Amino acid sequence: MKLPPEFNAIASTENSPTSVIAKEDKFIGVQFHPEVAHTEYGKTIIDNFIHGICGCGSLWTPANFIEDTIKRLKNQIGSGKVICGLSGGVDSTVAAALVHRAVGDQLTCIFVDNGLMRLEEPERIKDTCTKYLKINLKYVDAADQFLSALENIVDPEEKRKIIGKEFIDVFEKTSLDLGQVDFLAQGTVYPDVIESQTEESGASAKIKTHHNVGGLPEKMKMQLVEPLRYLFKDEVREVGLALGLPDVMVFRQPFPGPGLAIRIIGEVTREKLDILRQVEWIIMDEVKDNNLYRELWQSFAVLTGTKSVGVVGDHRTYGYVVAVRAVTSNEAMTADWARIPYDILANISNRIANEVDGVNRIVYDITSKPPGTIEWE
Ligand code: XMP
Repeated sequence: MKLPPEFNAIASTENSPTSVIAKEDKFIGVQFHPEVAHTEYGKTIIDNFIHGICGCGSLWTPANFIEDTIKRLKNQIGSGKVICGLSGGVDSTVAAALVHRAVGDQLTCIFVDNGLMRLEEPERIKDTCTKYLKINLKYVDAADQFLSALENIVDPEEKRKIIGKEFIDVFEKTSLDLGQVDFLAQGTVYPDVIESQTEESGASAKIKTHHNVGGLPEKMKMQLVEPLRYLFKDEVREVGLALGLPDVMVFRQPFPGPGLAIRIIGEVTREKLDILRQVEWIIMDEVKDNNLYRELWQSFAVLTGTKSVGVVGDHRTYGYVVAVRAVTSNEAMTADWARIPYDILANISNRIANEVDGVNRIVYDITSKPPGTIEWE
């Protein structure tokens, strides 16, 4: 391997003679990922680089961020009207709360029930938003529209694109009632930007189209407002707490925009959604009962496209194989499968087999990210 002129290797490993290269102690290059959670001392390396080598201070605090962001939002939005898609997740909630602080009732939030959420989730989200955010909220039941559009679709990327498109469609229609709307606020966070291969992300290969980054059509005349675009989830949570949002909102486990559609392998049907909802409910129930909710980055189920033979009493059954997935992570760029105690897994498995018709086999996913992704699709 040839080094650039004036660079020397200052650290090496068995596999890489040039793990770290430097020029005059000023320009440093590393050939590994210090930013991912699973790199030992990664944080220390970045800390030394930023504070030691570059001489930067530590000015970022949630309070400073809120103050700066509100100023920037006021400048950007002026007296314009903003709509914001509220999903119930911490990202869009914190984004909406920030925009609301900046421009008050110029903001209207739209919650779209896409028919792909968990059991009774749309109602719960509506209740918490009404209680804690005190914003203008429009609730749109668009479940039929989304489910029809998803009929016969099996390809994950196609599902995402369709969901993104329907989402924008509902948005546009709903916003018509509001007259001229100038801005669309979104809870896009930095990992979405990185993984969606936009120009600024510099990502080398597209992994998945996260629909809040990829799918905005040109014809949409609204300007984007993305106050969290450069934050990671743990920072978003800190900002949420500093804004006074309650734990149920701030520490909600992430839930993907395309919802259960990407946890059902193959075609999405109402029957499969119903089965998956019951399974996810049991997992959440057990996870919360055993105080694992906050420790786990995400815990959920996947309805695999496979069926298997089972037995109940004297009868042969032929039912779905469900995969339980639970991971620990800091920012979803990397993740480790969670070492949930066997007894809890046994309970989850028994309950699913006993309580959910149509499922007769439960497996636990022991794949980390990489090589897997957190979701199966
Ligand atoms: P993956 O599966 O890519 O997931 O390891 C990383 C994190 O992103 C969530 N996820 C999505 N969120 N739209 C979203 O808003 C999507 O299309 C999407 N796909 C995955 C996933 O749940 C995890 O938190």
